[in-house]
Amino acid sequence: MTKLAVLGASGGIGQPLSLLLKLSPQLTELSLYDIRLAKGVATDLSHINTNVKVQGYDKDELADALKDTDLVVIPAGIPRKPGMTRDDLFKINAGIIRTLAEGVASYAPNALVLVISNPVNSTVPIFKEVLSKRGVFNPRKLFGITTLDLVRARTFLNGFETSGSFQKFDEIHVIGGHSGNTIVPVLSTASKTYSKIAAKDRDALIHRVQFGGDEVVKAKDGAGSATLSMAYSAYIFIERLLKAINGSSDEVIEDTFIYLDNSILGASEVRRVFPKVDFISLPIKLGKRGVESIDTSILKKLDHNEEKLLNIAVKELNINIAKGVNFVKNSS
Ligand code: NAI
Repeated sequence: MTKLAVLGASGGIGQPLSLLLKLSPQLTELSLYDIRLAKGVATDLSHINTNVKVQGYDKDELADALKDTDLVVIPAGIPRKPGMTRDDLFKINAGIIRTLAEGVASYAPNALVLVISNPVNSTVPIFKEVLSKRGVFNPRKLFGITTLDLVRARTFLNGFETSGSFQKFDEIHVIGGHSGNTIVPVLSTASKTYSKIAAKDRDALIHRVQFGGDEVVKAKDGAGSATLSMAYSAYIFIERLLKAINGSSDEVIEDTFIYLDNSILGASEVRRVFPKVDFISLPIKLGKRGVESIDTSILKKLDHNEEKLLNIAVKELNINIAKGVNFVKNSS
């Protein structure tokens, strides 16, 4: 029995993500919560003949929505419009995330929490601060979803392949944070393909991964940001996490944004390199408890340029993290 709640289930991401989760072979119950329309979305999905039971909850039913959930996924909050950075969303989304974190602390304190809402670099620290204040923070159970950056990196890198068929590029990673310069694509590990790319094309490729979200925002012309590719990305991360918590014997490693708690194997090694950083996205080994350990070997695999990009990323990341932490510290 595995129950998952989607908070923000009626939105551009929430709806296709809920549809994918309705098809999941690893879930038994899906709880859909939003401040509008969640019951409608749930009723619609409930007509699909798969095993996952779906229930919708209105604005004032957060406690019921979260009851007995094992995982909580959060795509609630406003998306970007052309010209906006993810940080511009902070004003509105910070408050939404704080409210939902209070709900999770009260009604699902043991659940794994996956935050999609932007700016991820700040919303995950907000979540951690609220849970810590309430005495229920478990660093193995809080994740910022950065999978879309990896999905984009794999797709865009494939554009340089001449073989014709789509490659998986399992060996690449995207680390750092989830906005512009904090996104650090580590593509040199796909050395066979990467070595064939000219220097100027490499720079353009890296920039495209870092700012790929802007392409979607621009093309949607004011109607929002990535929703379908994001729903896909969250779904594949959730499926991998479910596999890990259900005790799969295969190694499950995913890039995700976590808090560097000293109890997590590898955290102190990351802190030796970046003493000031508290949260970062790195390849994380997932297991029954959620985060098992950090695969720090990536830090030794970076080429010179990737190392440079990571140093730039960490500086901006620290500012974003502090913004989230201070929001909670100064607001009570
Ligand atoms: P949307 O506006 O289409 O949907 C957001 C949903 O959240 C709406 O249904 C709204 O009613 C709901 N909502 C607002 N306040 C709420 C609350 N207090 N409780 C529950 N639900 C609430 O936005 P979209 O496109 O689905 O994006 C959602 C968030 O995901 C945005 O912040 C966006 O920037 C972020 N995002 C993150 C990505 C990532 O890679 N982590 C990629 C793309 C978007």
